[in-house]
Amino acid sequence: MNSTEHPRITGPPTPAFVIDKSALDILVNRFQDALAQHWPNSVMSYSVKTNSLPWLLTYMKQQGIWAEVVSDSEYRLACAIGYEPNQIVYNGPIKSRRVLRAALRNGSLTNFDSNREVRWAAELAAEDPSLDVRVGLRVNWDLDALCPGESTVVGERSRFGFDYTNGDLEAVISRLSDAGASVVGLHMHRNSRTKSLQVYQAAAGVAAEIISTLDLHLDWIDIGGGFFGSLDDTTMFADYISCIRAELEPVVDPRRTRLVIEPGGSVIATPVELHAQVLDTKDIGPQRFVITDTSRTDIDPLFRKQASYDIATEAAHGTSHPEQVLAGFTCMEDDRLMVLKDSPKLLEGDRIVFRRVGAYTMTYGSSFIEFQPAVYVLDENSLTMVRRPGGVEDYLNGNMWAAGQPPSADAPPA
Ligand SMILES: Cc1ncc(COP(=O)(O)O)c(C=O)c1O
Repeated sequence: MNSTEHPRITGPPTPAFVIDKSALDILVNRFQDALAQHWPNSVMSYSVKTNSLPWLLTYMKQQGIWAEVVSDSEYRLACAIGYEPNQIVYNGPIKSRRVLRAALRNGSLTNFDSNREVRWAAELAAEDPSLDVRVGLRVNWDLDALCPGESTVVGERSRFGFDYTNGDLEAVISRLSDAGASVVGLHMHRNSRTKSLQVYQAAAGVAAEIISTLDLHLDWIDIGGGFFGSLDDTTMFADYISCIRAELEPVVDPRRTRLVIEPGGSVIATPVELHAQVLDTKDIGPQRFVITDTSRTDIDPLFRKQASYDIATEAAHGTSHPEQVLAGFTCMEDDRLMVLKDSPKLLEGDRIVFRRVGAYTMTYGSSFIEFQPAVYVLDENSLTMVRRPGGVEDYLNGNMWAAGQPPSADAPPA
């Protein structure tokens, strides 16, 4: 190739997400193998909020992976995809009484995170003594005390779970057992800065301490998600599970107590790319602004990333520019995706591929200025569209006033 020629990157019309199925297969199989090797009596449940694309939820279900949900809407979505209640892990502090009661009756693995759930479960157990109400509790534990610098809420405590150190957790256990319900699970999820093995050692260590101090006999220990995943690191998933097992083995029998994991980003971040295109370039002062047909609303929806994406571009080799600002399609000044220093110059029409953008992107889907990009799956060199690009028709269909018709009395639909 001549040095000023543009390297061609193939892909669908832009903007579009592309899921590389072979990369997804590798990461999912690797986690399943790690569990099979180190804790065969386990449940892998995929964190629906991380990316709830229906194609992906169906794919996970086909792999025998459960759905981990944190709202009634996610619970209903999992059911609509075809998950049975007993393949759903139901978490989070905002469950409704109605869905919670159904989940407990129908065998969903349910971890409590609020006082009202405790009250509702006690009511249910008292109301129907023949029902075996078995629940888990999310534990609030001090990550920063055990792993300084790891907490994502600096200088403050997490707001999730029941505090073990102030006696709340024990009080909730007593309250439930007095009402005839049993606490048979602990949920330890924490996000962390580095996702290191020490964080999981600490989570499992706290669980082990609670189990032995309170003499608990558990059906499950749910260690949560937050793992690191990369195609290059072939042993990390196995390292996580074996270090969790080493902490817990002295206090539980892994043949009786299931390990539950809830991976999200570790399996879906890497396999997804966003393909975009340069719409225009402008030289202003020392900077060259490269306007694209994507936006931070697509790949950095919380406008939080100090972005340095792993990208591929069709920029011509040999012509470099000191500072190119990749900018989004919105009218917001801070819709700047990243700055390229001393990099090949991008020109109108060049494709830019942002790699590893599958987690916490599509689920924040925005209709700000532009509708959501299409999604394609790449499988053995063939691309299949699994979500069409958002459009005015869909938007109007979802808005009941669109055709000048007021919502009917029983709207919105349940
Ligand atoms: C309870 C729970 N489980 C699982 C996850 C998934 O985490 P990740 O996508 O980092 O694996 C989260 C994310 O915050 C969570 O809150």
